[in-house]
Amino acid sequence: MENHAQSLFSLLLLLLFTISREVGAQAPFRVYDDCSLSKLFVFGDSYVDTGNFQNSPSFKPPYGTTFPGKPAGRFSDGYVLTDYIASFLKIQSPIPYNMRDTVGKSNLTYGMNFARGGSGIFKTLVDGPNMTTQIDFFQNLIQQNVYTKQDLQSSLALVNAAGNDYATFLLRNGSTKDLPFFMKSLIDQLSLDLKRIQSFGVGKIAVGLLEPMGCLPQATVFTSYKNCMDAINLVSYSHSQMLLQAVKNLNQEIGKQVFITLDLYNAFLSKIAEMQKARAAKPTLMNPLEPCCVGVSKDDFCGSVDEKGAKKYNVCEKPEESFFWDNFHPSQNGWHQVYNAIQTSLQQLSQGKF
Ligand SMILES: *[C@@H]1O[C@H](CO)[C@@H](O)[C@H](O)[C@H]1NC(C)=O
Ligand SMILES: *[C@@H]1O[C@H](CO)[C@@H](O)[C@H](O)[C@H]1NC(C)=O
Ligand SMILES: *[C@@H]1O[C@H](CO)[C@@H](O)[C@H](O)[C@H]1NC(C)=O
Repeated sequence: MENHAQSLFSLLLLLLFTISREVGAQAPFRVYDDCSLSKLFVFGDSYVDTGNFQNSPSFKPPYGTTFPGKPAGRFSDGYVLTDYIASFLKIQSPIPYNMRDTVGKSNLTYGMNFARGGSGIFKTLVDGPNMTTQIDFFQNLIQQNVYTKQDLQSSLALVNAAGNDYATFLLRNGSTKDLPFFMKSLIDQLSLDLKRIQSFGVGKIAVGLLEPMGCLPQATVFTSYKNCMDAINLVSYSHSQMLLQAVKNLNQEIGKQVFITLDLYNAFLSKIAEMQKARAAKPTLMNPLEPCCVGVSKDDFCGSVDEKGAKKYNVCEKPEESFFWDNFHPSQNGWHQVYNAIQTSLQQLSQGKF
C-alpha cells in the first residue's frame, strides 16, 4: 500500500508539473468602500460545517469536548473556521440549516450555515447536498423572503470546498492523467457557484484556498507523522493558484472587489512549521502532524466504538496543544492558529479594503 501510494503520488507530481502555472501573486488590493457585515452564510464541507451532518462522527463523542462540551456536529473538539469568522464579524455563529425549523426567528438573524461534512463541489463518496444543492437551499430561503435584499447586501458568504472532491477522485482511482482536467472542471464549477451566490446580492464572498492535503494526518501517517507529502501538497498548491486566478477574473468581470480568498494553504503550512520549530526547542510539545484523536487500530477512527459501545480510539492529553484533531480536521487550537494566520485578509474585509 505504502509503495503503491508513493508511486501514485510521484506520478501525480510529474503530471502536475505539466499544468500551466501562469498565475502570479495576488494583485495589490485597492480601497473599496466601508462595509459592515452582520450576517454570515456558509457553504462547503466539514471545515465549515457546524451541525448539518446528523449521524456522522461529529455528533458522537469525543467530538465537541472543548466546545460546546458535548458532541454537536462540529468536526473538531471545539470551534471550526466558521466560528472564528463569525467572531471576527462580532456575531453569533450562524445556525445550521438543519436547525432552521426548530429555532426561533431571532436565531436566523446572523445568517445560516448550509455546509455539510463530506460534501464537495461535485458528488463525493459521502451522500449529502453538494455545493449546488446548498446554494439551492439558500435561493429557496431568499425566494421565501426569509432574507431581504438589504440583509444580503450586508452579508458575508464563506465558501470552502474541494478537499472531498480530490479525495473522491483519488479513491475512485481516477486516472492521474485526468487530474489536470478534473482540476479545471472543479475550478470552473466553483466559479459558477461563486457567481451564483453573488448574483443574489451577497455583499462579500470569502473563498478558502485548499489546505495542503499532504499534511493531513491521513497522509503523514505514512511517514510516521514526520513529514508532509509534497506530491499531494502540489495538488493543493495548483488548485489554489488556479482558484486565485479565477477569483481575480470574477472581480474583474463584475468590476468590483466582491471576492476575497482565505489562504488556508499557506496558513496551514506556516503554522505547522512554527509548531514544529517550537517543538524542536521543547520536545514535550505535541507533534503538529499527529492527530489528537486516533483509532486504536487501523480499522478504527476517532469516535469508533465496538459492538458493546466501548471506545476504540484515544484522545491526546492536551488537545489545546494539537494542530489536528483527527485524521482530516484541525482541532480548535489548529483553527485558532489558522485564523491568526489569515488575519490580514480578514482585516482588509472589515475595513472594506481589498
Ligand atoms: C438562539 O438564540 C438565543 C438567543 O440569542 C441563544 O441563546 C441560543 O443559543 C440560540 N440557539 C442556537 C441554536 O443558536
Ligand atoms: C449536485 O447534486 C444535484 C442533486 O444530486 C445534481 O443534480 C447536480 O448535478 C450536482 N451538481 C454538480 C455540480 O455536480
Ligand atoms: C488503478 O487502476 C489501474 C487500472 O485499472 C490499476 O492497474 C491500478 O492498480 C489502480 N490503482 C490503484 C491505486 O488502485
